[in-house]
Amino acid sequence: MAFIFANALISWHAKHGRVGMPWQNKRDPYAIWVSEIMLQQTQVSTVSERYLLFMKRFPTLSSLANAPIDDVMALWSGLGYYSRARNLHRCAQKIMSEHSGKFPRDLDALESLPGIGRSTAGAIVAFAYDVHAPILDANVKRVLSRFHGIEGDLQDRETIKQLWVRAQAQLPKVSIKMPIYTQALMDFGATWCTPKQARCISDEARCPMMNNCLAYQTNRVDKIPAKKKKSASPSFQTSIFLIQSGEFILLERRAPKAIWGGLYSLIELPWEPQSKDIALMTVRNARKILSKTLLGDKALDIDFKQIMSVQTSSVIQHVFSHRRLQMYPYLVSLNQKWTISHPNLIWIKRANIAEIGLPQPIRVFLESSSR
Ligand code: ADE
Repeated sequence: MAFIFANALISWHAKHGRVGMPWQNKRDPYAIWVSEIMLQQTQVSTVSERYLLFMKRFPTLSSLANAPIDDVMALWSGLGYYSRARNLHRCAQKIMSEHSGKFPRDLDALESLPGIGRSTAGAIVAFAYDVHAPILDANVKRVLSRFHGIEGDLQDRETIKQLWVRAQAQLPKVSIKMPIYTQALMDFGATWCTPKQARCISDEARCPMMNNCLAYQTNRVDKIPAKKKKSASPSFQTSIFLIQSGEFILLERRAPKAIWGGLYSLIELPWEPQSKDIALMTVRNARKILSKTLLGDKALDIDFKQIMSVQTSSVIQHVFSHRRLQMYPYLVSLNQKWTISHPNLIWIKRANIAEIGLPQPIRVFLESSSR
Protein backbone atom coordinates (compact mmCIF):
# COMPACT_ATOMS: atom_id res chain seq x y z
CA MET A 1 0.00 0.00 0.00
CA ALA A 2 2.77 2.37 0.94
CA PHE A 3 4.51 2.28 -2.42
CA ILE A 4 1.21 2.33 -4.30
CA PHE A 5 0.55 5.67 -2.65
CA ALA A 6 4.01 7.04 -3.44
CA ASN A 7 4.00 5.85 -7.05
CA ALA A 8 0.45 7.04 -7.73
CA LEU A 9 1.29 10.42 -6.27
CA ILE A 10 4.45 10.76 -8.34
CA SER A 11 2.53 9.93 -11.53
CA TRP A 12 -0.13 12.43 -10.52
CA HIS A 13 2.60 15.05 -10.13
CA ALA A 14 3.95 14.47 -13.63
CA LYS A 15 0.58 15.58 -15.03
CA HIS A 16 -0.84 17.94 -12.45
CA GLY A 17 2.01 19.21 -10.28
CA ARG A 18 2.66 22.93 -10.01
CA VAL A 19 5.33 24.36 -12.27
CA GLY A 20 7.28 27.59 -12.37
CA MET A 21 7.88 28.03 -8.64
CA PRO A 22 11.38 29.54 -8.38
CA TRP A 23 12.56 27.20 -5.59
CA GLN A 24 11.65 24.02 -7.48
CA ASN A 25 14.24 21.41 -8.42
CA LYS A 26 16.95 23.00 -6.33
CA ARG A 27 19.56 20.97 -4.49
CA ASP A 28 21.22 23.76 -2.55
CA PRO A 29 20.01 23.31 1.04
CA TYR A 30 20.34 27.05 1.67
CA ALA A 31 17.99 27.94 -1.22
CA ILE A 32 15.58 25.20 -0.14
CA TRP A 33 15.63 26.26 3.50
CA VAL A 34 14.84 29.92 2.66
CA SER A 35 11.87 28.87 0.53
CA GLU A 36 10.54 26.46 3.14
CA ILE A 37 10.68 29.09 5.87
CA MET A 38 8.93 31.65 3.63
CA LEU A 39 6.27 29.12 2.66
CA GLN A 40 5.52 28.11 6.24
CA GLN A 41 2.91 30.80 6.70
CA THR A 42 2.76 32.64 3.41
CA GLN A 43 1.11 31.70 0.14
CA VAL A 44 3.04 30.57 -2.92
CA SER A 45 1.83 33.56 -4.95
CA THR A 46 3.23 36.05 -2.42
CA VAL A 47 6.42 34.10 -1.79
CA SER A 48 7.39 33.67 -5.45
CA GLU A 49 8.38 37.28 -6.03
CA ARG A 50 9.74 37.89 -2.54
CA TYR A 51 11.89 34.77 -2.67
CA LEU A 52 13.72 36.00 -5.76
CA LEU A 53 14.43 39.37 -4.17
CA PHE A 54 15.67 37.71 -1.01
CA MET A 55 17.97 35.33 -2.87
CA LYS A 56 19.34 38.16 -4.96
CA ARG A 57 20.26 40.15 -1.87
CA PHE A 58 21.42 37.10 0.14
CA PRO A 59 22.58 34.50 -2.40
CA THR A 60 24.54 32.42 0.13
CA LEU A 61 24.33 31.36 3.73
CA SER A 62 27.33 33.49 4.66
CA SER A 63 25.88 36.59 2.98
CA LEU A 64 22.79 36.20 5.16
CA ALA A 65 24.74 35.43 8.33
CA ASN A 66 26.94 38.50 7.83
CA ALA A 67 24.13 40.92 6.97
CA PRO A 68 22.76 43.43 9.50
CA ILE A 69 19.47 42.17 10.97
CA ASP A 70 17.75 45.40 9.83
CA ASP A 71 18.46 44.46 6.19
CA VAL A 72 16.92 41.02 6.71
CA MET A 73 13.85 42.50 8.39
CA ALA A 74 13.46 45.02 5.56
CA LEU A 75 13.40 42.24 2.98
CA TRP A 76 10.90 40.31 5.06
CA SER A 77 8.55 43.27 5.30
CA GLY A 78 5.05 42.28 4.18
CA LEU A 79 5.60 38.54 4.59
CA GLY A 80 4.35 38.60 8.19
CA TYR A 81 5.32 36.34 11.09
CA TYR A 82 8.57 38.20 11.58
CA SER A 83 10.03 35.79 14.10
CA ARG A 84 10.79 33.73 10.99
CA ALA A 85 13.17 36.41 9.73
CA ARG A 86 14.91 36.76 13.09
CA ASN A 87 15.27 32.98 13.32
CA LEU A 88 16.53 32.80 9.75
CA HIS A 89 19.29 35.22 10.56
CA ARG A 90 20.22 33.48 13.85
CA CYS A 91 20.07 30.10 12.17
CA ALA A 92 22.43 31.23 9.38
CA GLN A 93 24.89 32.47 12.00
CA LYS A 94 24.67 29.21 13.94
CA ILE A 95 25.29 27.08 10.86
CA MET A 96 28.29 29.22 10.04
CA SER A 97 29.76 28.98 13.54
CA GLU A 98 28.71 25.49 14.64
CA HIS A 99 28.50 23.51 11.39
CA SER A 100 31.29 25.15 9.36
CA GLY A 101 28.75 26.79 7.08
CA LYS A 102 27.27 23.49 5.90
CA PHE A 103 23.66 22.47 6.42
CA PRO A 104 23.57 19.31 8.54
CA ARG A 105 22.04 16.21 6.94
CA ASP A 106 21.06 14.93 10.30
CA LEU A 107 17.42 15.58 11.21
CA ASP A 108 18.05 16.06 14.93
CA ALA A 109 20.84 18.52 14.27
CA LEU A 110 18.64 20.46 11.84
CA GLU A 111 15.71 20.45 14.21
CA SER A 112 17.78 21.95 16.99
CA LEU A 113 18.37 25.09 14.87
CA PRO A 114 16.21 28.20 15.29
CA GLY A 115 12.96 28.15 13.30
CA ILE A 116 13.38 24.63 11.90
CA GLY A 117 10.71 22.15 12.97
CA ARG A 118 10.55 18.48 12.10
CA SER A 119 8.58 18.94 8.90
CA THR A 120 10.84 21.70 7.59
CA ALA A 121 13.90 19.62 8.48
CA GLY A 122 12.37 16.72 6.55
CA ALA A 123 11.71 18.88 3.50
CA ILE A 124 15.27 20.25 3.50
CA VAL A 125 17.00 16.88 3.64
CA ALA A 126 14.55 15.22 1.25
CA PHE A 127 14.97 17.95 -1.37
CA ALA A 128 18.70 18.55 -0.91
CA TYR A 129 20.09 15.13 0.00
CA ASP A 130 17.43 12.53 -1.02
CA VAL A 131 17.12 11.50 2.62
CA HIS A 132 14.16 9.28 3.52
CA ALA A 133 12.54 11.85 5.82
CA PRO A 134 8.83 12.61 5.82
CA ILE A 135 7.13 16.00 5.98
CA LEU A 136 3.94 16.77 7.85
CA ASP A 137 2.68 20.29 7.34
CA ALA A 138 -1.00 21.25 7.50
CA ASN A 139 -1.71 20.16 3.91
CA VAL A 140 0.00 16.83 4.35
CA LYS A 141 -1.86 16.20 7.61
CA ARG A 142 -5.11 16.64 5.70
CA VAL A 143 -4.06 14.32 2.85
CA LEU A 144 -2.92 11.55 5.19
CA SER A 145 -5.81 11.80 7.61
CA ARG A 146 -8.21 11.44 4.67
CA PHE A 147 -6.30 8.63 3.00
CA HIS A 148 -6.18 6.65 6.25
CA GLY A 149 -9.60 7.74 7.50
CA ILE A 150 -8.13 9.25 10.69
CA GLU A 151 -10.83 11.37 12.31
CA GLY A 152 -8.95 12.69 15.35
CA ASP A 153 -8.30 16.36 15.94
CA LEU A 154 -5.23 17.42 13.99
CA GLN A 155 -4.00 19.47 16.95
CA ASP A 156 -4.05 16.40 19.14
CA ARG A 157 -0.65 14.89 20.00
CA GLU A 158 -1.80 11.31 19.57
CA THR A 159 -3.27 12.03 16.12
CA ILE A 160 -0.12 13.82 15.06
CA LYS A 161 1.98 10.91 16.28
CA GLN A 162 -0.10 8.49 14.21
CA LEU A 163 0.25 10.70 11.16
CA TRP A 164 4.05 10.81 11.47
CA VAL A 165 4.12 7.03 11.53
CA ARG A 166 2.00 6.90 8.35
CA ALA A 167 4.04 9.64 6.72
CA GLN A 168 7.24 7.67 7.32
CA ALA A 169 5.73 4.38 6.21
CA GLN A 170 4.58 5.60 2.83
CA LEU A 171 7.76 7.20 1.57
CA PRO A 172 8.98 5.86 -1.79
CA LYS A 173 11.25 2.87 -1.67
CA VAL A 174 14.14 4.45 -3.54
CA SER A 175 15.70 7.53 -2.08
CA ILE A 176 16.26 9.32 -5.40
CA LYS A 177 12.50 9.75 -5.61
CA MET A 178 12.40 11.71 -2.35
CA PRO A 179 12.54 15.22 -3.87
CA ILE A 180 9.81 14.61 -6.42
CA TYR A 181 7.65 12.72 -3.93
CA THR A 182 7.95 15.49 -1.35
CA GLN A 183 7.05 18.17 -3.88
CA ALA A 184 4.16 16.03 -5.18
CA LEU A 185 2.72 15.66 -1.70
CA MET A 186 2.87 19.41 -1.15
CA ASP A 187 1.29 20.15 -4.52
CA PHE A 188 -1.43 17.54 -4.13
CA GLY A 189 -2.44 18.88 -0.70
CA ALA A 190 -2.41 22.48 -1.90
CA THR A 191 -4.28 22.04 -5.19
CA TRP A 192 -6.42 18.86 -5.18
CA CYS A 193 -6.90 17.47 -1.70
CA THR A 194 -8.04 20.90 -0.53
CA PRO A 195 -9.96 21.71 2.70
CA LYS A 196 -13.17 22.37 0.77
CA GLN A 197 -14.37 20.80 -2.46
CA ALA A 198 -11.54 18.35 -2.80
CA ARG A 199 -11.08 17.28 -6.42
CA CYS A 200 -11.50 13.55 -5.88
CA ILE A 201 -13.42 13.24 -9.09
CA SER A 202 -14.13 15.83 -11.71
CA ASP A 203 -14.84 16.04 -15.43
CA GLU A 204 -11.21 16.18 -16.43
CA ALA A 205 -9.57 13.95 -13.85
CA ARG A 206 -9.82 11.52 -10.99
CA CYS A 207 -7.63 11.30 -7.93
CA PRO A 208 -5.30 8.35 -8.51
CA MET A 209 -5.43 7.44 -4.81
CA MET A 210 -9.20 7.38 -4.52
CA ASN A 211 -9.57 3.60 -4.61
CA ASN A 212 -7.43 3.32 -1.50
CA CYS A 213 -8.55 6.51 0.19
CA LEU A 214 -10.59 5.57 3.23
CA ALA A 215 -12.31 8.95 3.48
CA TYR A 216 -13.41 8.73 -0.16
CA GLN A 217 -14.51 5.12 0.12
CA THR A 218 -16.64 5.87 3.18
CA ASN A 219 -17.95 9.20 1.92
CA ARG A 220 -16.18 11.24 4.62
CA VAL A 221 -13.94 13.53 2.56
CA ASP A 222 -15.87 16.58 3.80
CA LYS A 223 -15.77 15.35 7.40
CA ILE A 224 -12.05 14.62 7.62
CA PRO A 225 -10.16 16.34 9.07
CA ALA A 226 -12.58 17.33 11.85
CA LYS A 227 -13.41 21.02 11.69
CA LYS A 228 -11.85 23.19 14.34
CA LYS A 229 -14.28 24.98 16.62
CA LYS A 230 -13.83 28.66 15.97
CA SER A 231 -13.64 30.97 18.95
CA ALA A 232 -14.07 34.71 18.51
CA SER A 233 -10.62 36.22 18.11
CA PRO A 234 -9.85 38.79 20.78
CA SER A 235 -9.08 42.32 19.74
CA PHE A 236 -6.74 44.88 21.19
CA GLN A 237 -6.13 48.55 20.59
CA THR A 238 -3.16 50.87 20.43
CA SER A 239 -2.52 54.52 19.76
CA ILE A 240 0.21 55.27 17.27
CA PHE A 241 2.01 58.56 16.81
CA LEU A 242 3.22 59.68 13.43
CA ILE A 243 5.72 62.31 14.55
CA GLN A 244 6.83 64.31 11.57
CA SER A 245 8.99 67.27 10.81
CA GLY A 246 9.07 68.34 7.19
CA GLU A 247 9.98 65.30 5.13
CA PHE A 248 11.21 63.33 8.16
CA ILE A 249 9.26 60.90 10.33
CA LEU A 250 10.28 59.35 13.63
CA LEU A 251 10.37 55.54 13.83
CA GLU A 252 11.10 53.21 16.70
CA ARG A 253 12.53 49.71 16.44
CA ARG A 254 10.19 47.32 18.21
CA ALA A 255 11.39 45.05 20.99
CA PRO A 256 12.45 41.60 19.68
CA LYS A 257 9.73 39.68 21.54
CA ALA A 258 6.87 42.06 20.69
CA ILE A 259 4.50 41.63 17.78
CA TRP A 260 6.45 42.77 14.72
CA GLY A 261 9.57 42.50 16.88
CA GLY A 262 12.67 43.91 15.23
CA LEU A 263 10.73 45.93 12.68
CA TYR A 264 10.56 49.68 12.78
CA SER A 265 7.18 51.22 13.51
CA LEU A 266 5.51 54.35 14.76
CA ILE A 267 5.76 55.30 18.42
CA GLU A 268 3.02 53.35 20.14
CA LEU A 269 0.98 53.37 23.35
CA PRO A 270 -1.62 50.90 24.55
CA TRP A 271 -5.00 52.46 23.85
CA GLU A 272 -6.81 53.55 26.96
CA PRO A 273 -10.42 54.36 26.14
CA GLN A 274 -10.94 55.86 29.58
CA SER A 275 -8.17 58.37 29.09
CA LYS A 276 -9.51 61.73 28.05
CA ASP A 277 -5.95 62.79 27.32
CA ILE A 278 -5.82 60.52 24.34
CA ALA A 279 -9.43 60.60 23.28
CA LEU A 280 -9.41 64.38 23.14
CA MET A 281 -5.89 64.83 21.87
CA THR A 282 -4.79 68.42 21.89
CA VAL A 283 -1.38 69.88 21.34
CA ARG A 284 -1.04 70.25 25.10
CA ASN A 285 -2.08 66.69 25.77
CA ALA A 286 0.19 65.37 23.07
CA ARG A 287 3.10 67.20 24.64
CA LYS A 288 2.20 65.74 28.02
CA ILE A 289 1.71 62.20 26.82
CA LEU A 290 4.76 62.12 24.62
CA SER A 291 6.96 63.63 27.27
CA LYS A 292 5.75 61.50 30.16
CA THR A 293 4.70 58.20 28.72
CA LEU A 294 6.31 57.68 25.40
CA LEU A 295 9.58 59.38 25.01
CA GLY A 296 10.15 60.47 28.61
CA ASP A 297 11.27 57.03 29.72
CA LYS A 298 14.03 57.08 27.15
CA ALA A 299 15.68 60.01 28.93
CA LEU A 300 15.75 62.05 25.77
CA ASP A 301 16.43 65.70 25.87
CA ILE A 302 13.49 66.87 23.82
CA ASP A 303 11.65 70.15 23.61
CA PHE A 304 8.01 69.15 23.51
CA LYS A 305 7.02 72.76 22.81
CA GLN A 306 8.08 72.09 19.26
CA ILE A 307 4.83 70.17 18.73
CA MET A 308 2.77 72.47 16.54
CA SER A 309 -0.31 70.43 15.73
CA VAL A 310 -1.98 67.11 16.39
CA GLN A 311 -4.57 65.54 14.14
CA THR A 312 -6.34 62.23 14.29
CA SER A 313 -6.79 59.89 11.37
CA SER A 314 -9.10 56.94 10.77
CA VAL A 315 -8.50 53.76 12.68
CA ILE A 316 -6.27 51.12 11.06
CA GLN A 317 -7.54 47.55 11.34
CA HIS A 318 -5.23 44.57 11.16
CA VAL A 319 -6.09 40.91 11.51
CA PHE A 320 -3.53 38.45 12.87
CA SER A 321 -4.16 34.72 12.87
CA HIS A 322 -5.56 34.78 16.42
CA ARG A 323 -6.12 38.42 17.22
CA ARG A 324 -7.41 41.62 15.77
CA LEU A 325 -5.71 44.94 16.22
CA GLN A 326 -7.11 48.44 15.93
CA MET A 327 -4.56 51.23 15.77
CA TYR A 328 -5.66 54.81 16.39
CA PRO A 329 -3.27 57.18 14.62
CA TYR A 330 -2.26 60.67 15.71
CA LEU A 331 -0.37 62.87 13.31
CA VAL A 332 1.99 65.04 15.35
CA SER A 333 3.75 67.86 13.50
CA LEU A 334 6.88 69.52 14.82
CA ASN A 335 8.27 72.86 13.77
CA GLN A 336 11.78 71.47 14.07
CA LYS A 337 13.27 68.00 14.11
CA TRP A 338 14.19 66.82 17.61
CA THR A 339 17.80 65.87 18.06
CA ILE A 340 17.54 62.30 19.20
CA SER A 341 20.30 59.94 20.05
CA HIS A 342 18.82 56.58 20.98
CA PRO A 343 19.68 53.15 19.53
CA ASN A 344 16.05 52.32 18.72
CA LEU A 345 14.83 55.66 17.40
CA ILE A 346 15.53 56.99 13.94
CA TRP A 347 14.44 59.86 11.77
CA ILE A 348 13.84 58.69 8.27
CA LYS A 349 12.89 60.55 5.13
CA ARG A 350 9.51 59.54 3.83
CA ALA A 351 11.07 58.95 0.44
CA ASN A 352 13.24 56.22 1.99
CA ILE A 353 10.65 54.12 3.82
CA ALA A 354 10.80 51.39 1.18
CA GLU A 355 14.26 50.50 2.50
CA ILE A 356 13.09 49.96 6.07
CA GLY A 357 11.44 46.87 7.57
CA LEU A 358 7.98 48.10 8.56
CA PRO A 359 4.80 46.24 9.47
CA GLN A 360 2.65 46.12 6.33
CA PRO A 361 -0.32 48.13 7.74
CA ILE A 362 2.07 50.84 8.94
CA ARG A 363 3.68 50.97 5.49
CA VAL A 364 0.27 51.34 3.85
CA PHE A 365 -0.71 54.03 6.35
CA LEU A 366 2.49 56.00 5.79
CA GLU A 367 2.10 55.79 2.05
CA SER A 368 -1.51 56.95 2.17
CA SER A 369 -0.86 59.69 4.72
CA SER A 370 1.79 61.31 2.53
CA ARG A 371 -0.58 61.90 -0.34
N1 ADE B 1 4.89 24.78 0.91
C1 ADE B 1 5.92 24.40 1.68
N2 ADE B 1 6.96 24.01 0.91
C2 ADE B 1 6.58 24.16 -0.38
C3 ADE B 1 7.20 23.94 -1.63
N3 ADE B 1 8.45 23.46 -1.71
N4 ADE B 1 6.49 24.21 -2.75
C4 ADE B 1 5.25 24.67 -2.66
N5 ADE B 1 4.60 24.91 -1.51
C5 ADE B 1 5.26 24.66 -0.37
